[in-house]
Amino acid sequence: MIYLVGGARPNFMKIAAISRAFEKYEIFYDIIHTGQHYDYNMNQVFFDEFGLKEPLVHLNVGSDPHGKQTGKIMERFERLCLDERPSMVFTVGDVNSTMAAALVAAKMHIPVVHQEAGMRSGDMKMPEEINRIVTDHISDLLFPISPQDRLNLYNEGIEKDKVHLVGDPMIDNLLFYSDRIEDEDISEKHILVELHRPANVDNKENLTEICIALSQLSDQHIVVFPIHPRTRKRIDEFKLWSYLHAVDHCEPMGYFDFHKYMKHAGSVITDSDGIQQETSILNVHCIAIRDTSNIEYTIKYGTTVLVKPNRDSIYAQAIYPFYNEPFKSNFPEQLKMLNDGNSSERIAEVIKKCKY
Ligand code: UD1
Repeated sequence: MIYLVGGARPNFMKIAAISRAFEKYEIFYDIIHTGQHYDYNMNQVFFDEFGLKEPLVHLNVGSDPHGKQTGKIMERFERLCLDERPSMVFTVGDVNSTMAAALVAAKMHIPVVHQEAGMRSGDMKMPEEINRIVTDHISDLLFPISPQDRLNLYNEGIEKDKVHLVGDPMIDNLLFYSDRIEDEDISEKHILVELHRPANVDNKENLTEICIALSQLSDQHIVVFPIHPRTRKRIDEFKLWSYLHAVDHCEPMGYFDFHKYMKHAGSVITDSDGIQQETSILNVHCIAIRDTSNIEYTIKYGTTVLVKPNRDSIYAQAIYPFYNEPFKSNFPEQLKMLNDGNSSERIAEVIKKCKY
Protein backbone atom coordinates (compact mmCIF):
# COMPACT_ATOMS: atom_id res chain seq x y z
CA MET A 1 0.00 0.00 0.00
CA ILE A 2 1.30 3.46 -0.94
CA TYR A 3 0.78 6.26 1.58
CA LEU A 4 0.04 9.57 -0.11
CA VAL A 5 0.85 12.14 2.57
CA GLY A 6 -0.62 15.63 2.76
CA GLY A 7 -1.40 18.15 5.42
CA ALA A 8 -1.43 21.73 4.19
CA ARG A 9 -3.63 23.48 1.64
CA PRO A 10 -1.32 23.39 -1.41
CA ASN A 11 -0.89 19.62 -1.03
CA PHE A 12 -4.50 18.74 -1.76
CA MET A 13 -4.66 19.94 -5.40
CA LYS A 14 -1.66 17.77 -6.19
CA ILE A 15 -3.02 14.79 -4.26
CA ALA A 16 -6.33 15.12 -6.14
CA ALA A 17 -4.65 14.76 -9.54
CA ILE A 18 -2.27 12.01 -8.40
CA SER A 19 -5.02 9.96 -6.78
CA ARG A 20 -7.15 10.18 -9.95
CA ALA A 21 -4.20 8.79 -11.91
CA PHE A 22 -3.55 6.07 -9.30
CA GLU A 23 -7.16 4.97 -9.56
CA LYS A 24 -6.99 4.84 -13.34
CA TYR A 25 -3.78 2.78 -13.20
CA GLU A 26 -5.13 0.58 -10.38
CA ILE A 27 -2.39 1.58 -7.95
CA PHE A 28 -3.47 1.00 -4.35
CA TYR A 29 -3.03 4.00 -2.10
CA ASP A 30 -4.28 5.58 1.09
CA ILE A 31 -4.23 9.23 2.03
CA ILE A 32 -2.59 10.16 5.34
CA HIS A 33 -3.61 13.61 6.58
CA THR A 34 -1.11 15.14 9.00
CA GLY A 35 -3.52 17.87 10.14
CA GLN A 36 -0.99 20.68 9.61
CA HIS A 37 -3.95 22.68 8.29
CA TYR A 38 -7.23 22.01 10.06
CA ASP A 39 -9.74 24.84 9.40
CA TYR A 40 -12.55 23.67 7.10
CA ASN A 41 -11.56 26.07 4.33
CA MET A 42 -7.84 25.18 4.58
CA ASN A 43 -8.34 21.43 4.13
CA GLN A 44 -11.73 19.66 4.26
CA VAL A 45 -13.21 21.93 1.57
CA PHE A 46 -10.77 20.37 -0.93
CA PHE A 47 -11.72 16.81 0.07
CA ASP A 48 -15.35 17.77 -0.51
CA GLU A 49 -14.81 19.63 -3.78
CA PHE A 50 -12.47 17.06 -5.35
CA GLY A 51 -14.24 14.03 -3.88
CA LEU A 52 -10.96 12.83 -2.37
CA LYS A 53 -10.82 9.50 -0.60
CA GLU A 54 -11.30 9.81 3.19
CA PRO A 55 -7.86 9.79 4.86
CA LEU A 56 -6.96 6.40 6.34
CA VAL A 57 -5.53 8.22 9.32
CA HIS A 58 -5.63 11.79 10.52
CA LEU A 59 -2.54 12.66 12.59
CA ASN A 60 -4.20 15.83 13.97
CA VAL A 61 -0.97 17.70 14.62
CA GLY A 62 -2.29 21.26 14.24
CA SER A 63 -0.16 24.42 14.52
CA ASP A 64 3.09 24.68 16.47
CA PRO A 65 6.55 26.14 15.98
CA HIS A 66 8.43 24.33 13.22
CA GLY A 67 10.44 21.92 15.37
CA LYS A 68 7.47 20.85 17.43
CA GLN A 69 5.12 20.54 14.46
CA THR A 70 7.66 18.53 12.46
CA GLY A 71 8.44 16.38 15.50
CA LYS A 72 4.78 15.65 16.18
CA ILE A 73 4.20 14.58 12.59
CA MET A 74 7.28 12.35 12.71
CA GLU A 75 6.33 10.71 16.00
CA ARG A 76 2.74 9.98 14.93
CA PHE A 77 3.62 8.98 11.38
CA GLU A 78 6.38 6.66 12.59
CA ARG A 79 3.93 4.88 14.89
CA LEU A 80 1.59 4.36 11.95
CA CYS A 81 4.40 3.10 9.69
CA LEU A 82 5.63 0.70 12.38
CA ASP A 83 2.13 -0.76 12.70
CA GLU A 84 1.17 -0.85 9.05
CA ARG A 85 4.46 -0.90 7.12
CA PRO A 86 3.41 0.85 3.88
CA SER A 87 5.28 -0.21 0.74
CA MET A 88 6.04 3.37 -0.30
CA VAL A 89 5.61 6.88 1.10
CA PHE A 90 4.65 9.43 -1.52
CA THR A 91 5.20 13.08 -0.57
CA VAL A 92 4.23 16.26 -2.43
CA GLY A 93 5.34 19.89 -2.26
CA ASP A 94 7.55 21.47 0.36
CA VAL A 95 5.64 21.91 3.60
CA ASN A 96 6.68 20.62 7.00
CA SER A 97 4.44 17.57 6.51
CA THR A 98 6.40 16.67 3.36
CA MET A 99 9.80 16.63 5.06
CA ALA A 100 8.55 14.98 8.27
CA ALA A 101 6.94 12.05 6.45
CA ALA A 102 9.96 11.61 4.17
CA LEU A 103 12.37 11.52 7.13
CA VAL A 104 10.35 8.85 8.93
CA ALA A 105 10.08 6.66 5.86
CA ALA A 106 13.74 7.00 4.86
CA LYS A 107 14.89 5.96 8.33
CA MET A 108 12.63 2.92 8.19
CA HIS A 109 13.97 2.05 4.72
CA ILE A 110 10.56 2.53 3.18
CA PRO A 111 10.94 3.91 -0.38
CA VAL A 112 10.28 7.66 -0.47
CA VAL A 113 8.87 9.53 -3.44
CA HIS A 114 8.95 13.30 -3.78
CA GLN A 115 6.73 15.12 -6.24
CA GLU A 116 7.83 18.73 -6.93
CA ALA A 117 11.45 17.72 -6.43
CA GLY A 118 14.31 20.02 -7.35
CA MET A 119 12.49 23.31 -6.90
CA ARG A 120 14.93 25.84 -5.43
CA SER A 121 14.77 29.50 -4.50
CA GLY A 122 18.34 29.66 -3.22
CA ASP A 123 16.96 31.30 -0.08
CA MET A 124 17.74 29.16 2.95
CA LYS A 125 15.71 31.51 5.15
CA MET A 126 12.55 30.03 3.64
CA PRO A 127 11.40 26.99 5.65
CA GLU A 128 10.20 25.44 2.40
CA GLU A 129 13.72 25.55 0.92
CA ILE A 130 15.03 23.47 3.82
CA ASN A 131 12.11 21.05 3.49
CA ARG A 132 12.73 20.65 -0.24
CA ILE A 133 16.47 20.03 0.03
CA VAL A 134 16.15 17.51 2.86
CA THR A 135 13.29 15.65 1.17
CA ASP A 136 15.05 15.45 -2.20
CA HIS A 137 18.24 14.07 -0.73
CA ILE A 138 16.50 11.20 1.07
CA SER A 139 14.08 10.30 -1.73
CA ASP A 140 14.34 7.21 -3.89
CA LEU A 141 12.20 8.54 -6.71
CA LEU A 142 11.97 12.21 -7.63
CA PHE A 143 9.44 13.95 -9.87
CA PRO A 144 10.48 17.49 -10.81
CA ILE A 145 7.95 19.71 -12.57
CA SER A 146 10.32 21.59 -14.90
CA PRO A 147 13.64 21.10 -16.72
CA GLN A 148 15.26 23.68 -14.41
CA ASP A 149 14.22 21.69 -11.33
CA ARG A 150 15.62 18.50 -12.85
CA LEU A 151 18.89 20.31 -13.53
CA ASN A 152 19.00 21.52 -9.92
CA LEU A 153 18.80 17.89 -8.78
CA TYR A 154 21.55 16.80 -11.15
CA ASN A 155 23.73 19.70 -9.97
CA GLU A 156 23.29 18.55 -6.38
CA GLY A 157 24.53 15.10 -7.33
CA ILE A 158 21.25 13.17 -7.25
CA GLU A 159 21.51 10.03 -9.39
CA LYS A 160 19.88 10.58 -12.76
CA ASP A 161 18.01 7.27 -12.77
CA LYS A 162 15.98 8.35 -9.72
CA VAL A 163 14.72 11.48 -11.49
CA HIS A 164 11.72 11.60 -13.84
CA LEU A 165 10.65 14.89 -15.39
CA VAL A 166 6.87 14.64 -15.60
CA GLY A 167 5.32 18.12 -15.27
CA ASP A 168 3.00 19.38 -12.58
CA PRO A 169 -0.04 17.57 -11.13
CA MET A 170 -1.33 20.92 -9.86
CA ILE A 171 -1.71 22.01 -13.48
CA ASP A 172 -3.40 18.67 -14.26
CA ASN A 173 -5.98 19.60 -11.67
CA LEU A 174 -6.44 23.10 -13.06
CA LEU A 175 -7.06 21.74 -16.56
CA PHE A 176 -9.24 18.88 -15.29
CA TYR A 177 -11.63 21.30 -13.59
CA SER A 178 -11.44 24.19 -16.08
CA ASP A 179 -14.97 23.56 -17.40
CA ARG A 180 -16.43 23.43 -13.92
CA ILE A 181 -15.16 26.83 -12.90
CA GLU A 182 -18.24 29.00 -13.16
CA ASP A 183 -17.90 32.63 -14.12
CA GLU A 184 -21.33 34.06 -14.85
CA ASP A 185 -21.52 36.10 -11.65
CA ILE A 186 -18.23 37.92 -12.22
CA SER A 187 -18.75 40.84 -14.56
CA GLU A 188 -15.98 43.29 -13.68
CA LYS A 189 -12.22 42.77 -13.73
CA HIS A 190 -10.76 42.82 -10.25
CA ILE A 191 -7.43 42.42 -8.47
CA LEU A 192 -7.14 39.15 -6.53
CA VAL A 193 -4.79 38.91 -3.53
CA GLU A 194 -3.37 35.85 -1.73
CA LEU A 195 -0.53 36.24 0.77
CA HIS A 196 0.90 34.06 3.50
CA ARG A 197 4.72 33.90 3.36
CA PRO A 198 6.34 34.73 6.71
CA ALA A 199 8.79 37.12 4.96
CA ASN A 200 5.84 39.27 3.90
CA VAL A 201 3.19 38.82 6.53
CA ASP A 202 5.19 38.33 9.74
CA ASN A 203 7.22 41.48 9.05
CA LYS A 204 5.31 44.58 10.18
CA GLU A 205 6.99 46.97 7.76
CA ASN A 206 6.41 44.71 4.75
CA LEU A 207 2.81 43.90 5.59
CA THR A 208 2.09 47.59 6.17
CA GLU A 209 3.50 48.49 2.73
CA ILE A 210 1.38 45.77 1.14
CA CYS A 211 -1.80 46.90 2.93
CA ILE A 212 -1.19 50.52 1.91
CA ALA A 213 -0.82 49.37 -1.72
CA LEU A 214 -4.12 47.46 -1.41
CA SER A 215 -5.77 50.53 0.08
CA GLN A 216 -4.60 52.70 -2.86
CA LEU A 217 -5.70 50.07 -5.37
CA SER A 218 -9.13 49.75 -3.76
CA ASP A 219 -9.81 53.46 -4.44
CA GLN A 220 -10.32 52.64 -8.11
CA HIS A 221 -10.50 48.87 -8.46
CA ILE A 222 -12.29 45.98 -6.89
CA VAL A 223 -9.73 44.20 -4.70
CA VAL A 224 -10.70 40.69 -3.60
CA PHE A 225 -8.62 39.36 -0.70
CA PRO A 226 -9.35 35.93 0.83
CA ILE A 227 -7.18 36.08 3.93
CA HIS A 228 -4.98 33.17 5.04
CA PRO A 229 -5.14 32.55 8.85
CA ARG A 230 -1.48 33.47 9.35
CA THR A 231 -2.03 36.77 7.52
CA ARG A 232 -5.25 37.53 9.40
CA LYS A 233 -3.45 37.13 12.72
CA ARG A 234 -0.75 39.57 11.66
CA ILE A 235 -3.24 42.15 10.34
CA ASP A 236 -4.85 42.01 13.80
CA GLU A 237 -1.54 42.19 15.62
CA PHE A 238 -0.11 45.05 13.52
CA LYS A 239 -3.51 46.85 13.52
CA LEU A 240 -3.74 47.19 9.75
CA TRP A 241 -7.48 46.74 9.20
CA SER A 242 -7.98 50.48 8.60
CA TYR A 243 -6.19 50.09 5.24
CA LEU A 244 -8.56 47.36 4.17
CA HIS A 245 -11.98 48.94 4.67
CA ALA A 246 -12.57 49.32 0.91
CA VAL A 247 -11.02 45.92 0.16
CA ASP A 248 -13.39 43.03 -0.42
CA HIS A 249 -11.81 40.72 2.16
CA CYS A 250 -13.11 37.34 3.29
CA GLU A 251 -12.10 33.95 4.71
CA PRO A 252 -9.93 31.65 2.52
CA MET A 253 -11.96 30.37 -0.43
CA GLY A 254 -12.45 26.86 -1.71
CA TYR A 255 -10.84 25.82 -5.00
CA PHE A 256 -13.72 26.56 -7.34
CA ASP A 257 -14.45 30.02 -5.96
CA PHE A 258 -10.80 31.00 -5.87
CA HIS A 259 -10.23 29.79 -9.40
CA LYS A 260 -13.27 31.63 -10.67
CA TYR A 261 -11.76 34.87 -9.31
CA MET A 262 -8.31 33.99 -10.60
CA LYS A 263 -9.53 33.20 -14.12
CA HIS A 264 -11.27 36.57 -14.42
CA ALA A 265 -8.75 38.74 -12.57
CA GLY A 266 -7.09 41.74 -14.19
CA SER A 267 -4.11 40.97 -12.00
CA VAL A 268 -3.21 38.75 -9.05
CA ILE A 269 -0.97 39.79 -6.16
CA THR A 270 0.55 36.84 -4.32
CA ASP A 271 3.55 35.21 -2.71
CA SER A 272 2.41 31.67 -3.49
CA ASP A 273 4.37 29.40 -5.82
CA GLY A 274 1.36 27.58 -7.14
CA ILE A 275 -0.51 30.74 -8.07
CA GLN A 276 2.46 31.91 -10.17
CA GLN A 277 2.15 28.71 -12.19
CA GLU A 278 -1.63 28.75 -12.45
CA THR A 279 -1.81 32.40 -13.55
CA SER A 280 0.83 31.73 -16.19
CA ILE A 281 -1.29 28.92 -17.59
CA LEU A 282 -4.39 31.16 -17.48
CA ASN A 283 -2.57 34.20 -18.95
CA VAL A 284 -3.36 36.36 -15.95
CA HIS A 285 -0.85 39.03 -14.88
CA CYS A 286 0.79 37.89 -11.61
CA ILE A 287 2.67 40.10 -9.19
CA ALA A 288 4.78 37.92 -6.91
CA ILE A 289 5.96 39.72 -3.78
CA ARG A 290 9.16 37.75 -3.48
CA ASP A 291 12.92 38.30 -3.72
CA THR A 292 13.31 35.16 -5.74
CA SER A 293 10.99 32.75 -7.43
CA ASN A 294 11.32 29.00 -7.23
CA ILE A 295 9.51 28.79 -10.52
CA GLU A 296 11.80 30.57 -12.88
CA TYR A 297 9.86 29.57 -15.97
CA THR A 298 6.85 31.63 -14.91
CA ILE A 299 9.04 34.74 -15.05
CA LYS A 300 10.91 33.79 -18.20
CA TYR A 301 7.96 32.53 -20.23
CA GLY A 302 4.88 33.19 -18.12
CA THR A 303 3.05 36.15 -16.65
CA THR A 304 4.87 36.57 -13.30
CA VAL A 305 6.75 39.72 -12.32
CA LEU A 306 8.70 39.86 -9.06
CA VAL A 307 8.29 42.94 -6.87
CA LYS A 308 9.57 44.00 -3.47
CA PRO A 309 7.07 44.63 -0.67
CA ASN A 310 6.92 48.30 -1.61
CA ARG A 311 3.63 50.19 -2.06
CA ASP A 312 4.61 51.98 -5.28
CA SER A 313 5.97 48.90 -7.05
CA ILE A 314 2.97 46.78 -6.09
CA TYR A 315 0.54 49.51 -7.16
CA ALA A 316 2.26 50.13 -10.51
CA GLN A 317 2.40 46.45 -11.40
CA ALA A 318 -1.13 45.66 -10.25
CA ILE A 319 -2.72 48.32 -12.45
CA TYR A 320 -0.48 47.60 -15.45
CA PRO A 321 -2.88 45.26 -17.30
CA PHE A 322 -5.81 47.63 -16.76
CA TYR A 323 -4.12 50.24 -18.98
CA ASN A 324 -1.75 48.20 -21.15
CA GLU A 325 -1.84 45.13 -23.33
CA PRO A 326 -1.67 42.24 -20.81
CA PHE A 327 1.29 39.86 -20.87
CA LYS A 328 0.81 36.53 -22.62
CA SER A 329 2.65 33.36 -21.72
CA ASN A 330 5.01 32.10 -24.35
CA PHE A 331 6.09 28.65 -23.26
CA PRO A 332 8.64 26.69 -25.29
CA GLU A 333 7.43 23.41 -26.70
CA GLN A 334 8.87 21.29 -23.86
CA LEU A 335 7.00 23.28 -21.19
CA LYS A 336 3.79 23.13 -23.20
CA MET A 337 4.14 19.36 -23.28
CA LEU A 338 4.87 19.18 -19.54
CA ASN A 339 1.78 21.30 -18.82
CA ASP A 340 -0.52 19.12 -20.92
CA GLY A 341 -2.64 17.88 -18.01
CA ASN A 342 -1.15 14.36 -17.95
CA SER A 343 1.69 14.72 -15.45
CA SER A 344 0.02 12.53 -12.85
CA GLU A 345 -0.46 9.77 -15.39
CA ARG A 346 3.24 9.93 -16.20
CA ILE A 347 3.89 9.57 -12.45
CA ALA A 348 1.52 6.60 -12.27
CA GLU A 349 3.32 4.93 -15.19
CA VAL A 350 6.66 5.18 -13.37
CA ILE A 351 5.17 3.97 -10.07
CA LYS A 352 3.44 1.06 -11.80
CA LYS A 353 6.83 -0.19 -13.01
CA CYS A 354 8.29 -0.10 -9.45
CA LYS A 355 7.92 -2.95 -7.02
CA TYR A 356 5.93 -1.13 -4.41
C1 UD1 B 1 2.21 26.42 5.26
C2 UD1 B 1 3.48 25.97 4.56
C3 UD1 B 1 3.70 26.80 3.30
C4 UD1 B 1 2.47 26.79 2.42
C5 UD1 B 1 1.29 27.27 3.24
C6 UD1 B 1 0.01 27.29 2.44
C7 UD1 B 1 5.33 25.11 5.92
C8 UD1 B 1 6.65 25.43 6.48
N1 UD1 B 1 4.66 26.13 5.38
O1 UD1 B 1 2.43 27.73 5.74
O2 UD1 B 1 4.78 26.27 2.57
O3 UD1 B 1 2.68 27.59 1.29
O4 UD1 B 1 1.13 26.39 4.35
O5 UD1 B 1 -1.03 27.75 3.19
O6 UD1 B 1 4.92 23.97 5.97
N2 UD1 B 1 -3.77 28.23 10.92
C9 UD1 B 1 -5.11 28.23 11.17
N3 UD1 B 1 -5.86 27.27 10.56
C10 UD1 B 1 -5.34 26.36 9.73
C11 UD1 B 1 -3.95 26.37 9.49
C12 UD1 B 1 -3.18 27.32 10.09
O7 UD1 B 1 -5.62 29.06 11.90
O8 UD1 B 1 -6.08 25.51 9.21
C13 UD1 B 1 -2.92 29.26 11.54
C14 UD1 B 1 -2.11 28.70 12.68
O9 UD1 B 1 -2.45 29.31 13.84
C15 UD1 B 1 -0.67 28.95 12.30
C16 UD1 B 1 -0.72 29.81 11.05
O10 UD1 B 1 -2.05 29.76 10.57
O11 UD1 B 1 0.04 29.62 13.31
C17 UD1 B 1 0.21 29.30 9.98
O12 UD1 B 1 0.01 27.92 9.67
P1 UD1 B 1 1.26 26.95 9.32
O13 UD1 B 1 0.77 25.65 8.84
O14 UD1 B 1 2.22 26.98 10.44
O15 UD1 B 1 2.03 27.64 8.15
P2 UD1 B 1 1.49 28.38 6.87
O16 UD1 B 1 1.87 29.80 6.98
O17 UD1 B 1 0.07 28.06 6.58
